[in-house]
Amino acid sequence: MTNPSLLILPGDGIGPEVMAEVRKIIDWFGAKRDLAFDVSEGLVGGAAYDAHGTPLTDETMEQAQQADAVLLGAVGGPKYDDLDFSVKPERGLLRLRKEMDLYSNLRPAQCFDALADFSSLKKDVVAGLDIMIVRELTSGIYFGEPRGIIEEGNERVGINTQRYTESEIDRVARSAFELAMRRDKKLCSMEKANVMESGILWRDVVTEVAKDYPEVELSHMYADNGAMQLVRAPKQFDVIVTDNLFGDILSDAAAMLTGSLGMLPSASLGAPMANGRPKALYEPVHGSAPDIAGQGKANPIACILSFSMALRYSFDQGAEADRLEAAVEKVLAEGGRTADLLGEEGVTPLSTSGMGDAVIAALDASL
Ligand code: NAI
Ligand code: MG
Repeated sequence: MTNPSLLILPGDGIGPEVMAEVRKIIDWFGAKRDLAFDVSEGLVGGAAYDAHGTPLTDETMEQAQQADAVLLGAVGGPKYDDLDFSVKPERGLLRLRKEMDLYSNLRPAQCFDALADFSSLKKDVVAGLDIMIVRELTSGIYFGEPRGIIEEGNERVGINTQRYTESEIDRVARSAFELAMRRDKKLCSMEKANVMESGILWRDVVTEVAKDYPEVELSHMYADNGAMQLVRAPKQFDVIVTDNLFGDILSDAAAMLTGSLGMLPSASLGAPMANGRPKALYEPVHGSAPDIAGQGKANPIACILSFSMALRYSFDQGAEADRLEAAVEKVLAEGGRTADLLGEEGVTPLSTSGMGDAVIAALDASL
């Protein structure tokens, strides 16, 4: 049997720095858990532009289509700010998401106990928080037609259209129900069916899909109330599914319940491939952090946890994902901190590779 394939695209800025730590962890699983991957590496973003004059070559795009999973660092940086829109680093990432048709964006908001003080909310409101927001990623108001700025009478009018087809709602709802089945079997769908027809359809279709998942407890909530509930009592939720626009906002808000950008992973999933695995792109939520790039200060945990999501959602290795997340938790509980996680004076921060090594040591201790 051949090993599952993993395409790694480190990208720009701190991308290559945090990805180097993930490579150590991938190697650890190969050596210690007999879990080997066929890893290939490619260029994306500014790195690809520098080498090829485009933020993503057709060859790399094709490799991504063939890979069992893609793991990406981050793209962009001030060096590329003046480039033409068509070759900007972000276009490489957008092309990957679009051509792989990654319609389901998974954003966990998980609060490690050791970092609960970092939240802007009270410690007991967030300690132990572990929720997942599923955001529809390829349709809705960011893509709907008509759009534009037109002249009407003697003023300009800005237009965007929220448009969802049944099948677009159906497929993202299914991915959320599947996720709920692997977790606490509790799903809350958020829209504004009170004022938007697309929200009425959303609620209808999600309710229909629920018939295929009788074990999952489904609830519906207006998205504005959802925003309130997320900051009031976030632990009432397990999985939340919502559209592109509400998901953009709610997932950023939920993520910040838990502290640093350097801790937050994500997954973007598409339709199942011939081997049953979904098309998948895993990446930290953060960007290329040009202010700290090249200084060995970046927190690699967001990227490490993105790999953990790959273990869970692409490779059916939930127990090994648990092992990796427990290793991260152990390092944090024992006081391991990169500079972004430092509150108190007098603690020496770990470097990027120091944090990677600490996670490896915790993995070793788990055997
Ligand atoms: P950013 O996420 O790169 O940085 C925001 C702040 O958080 C900075 O102070 C940075 O030092 C800090 N930070 C981010 N990740 C960290 C980590 N792992 N460890 C420690 N500190 C961390 O967002 P920003 O500054 O808005 O954008 C910088 C560049 O990244 C831009 O070119 C932007 O277009 C690009 N970007 C790329 C994304 C992607 O590749 N998915 C997402 C967001 C921004
Ligand atoms: Mg956003």
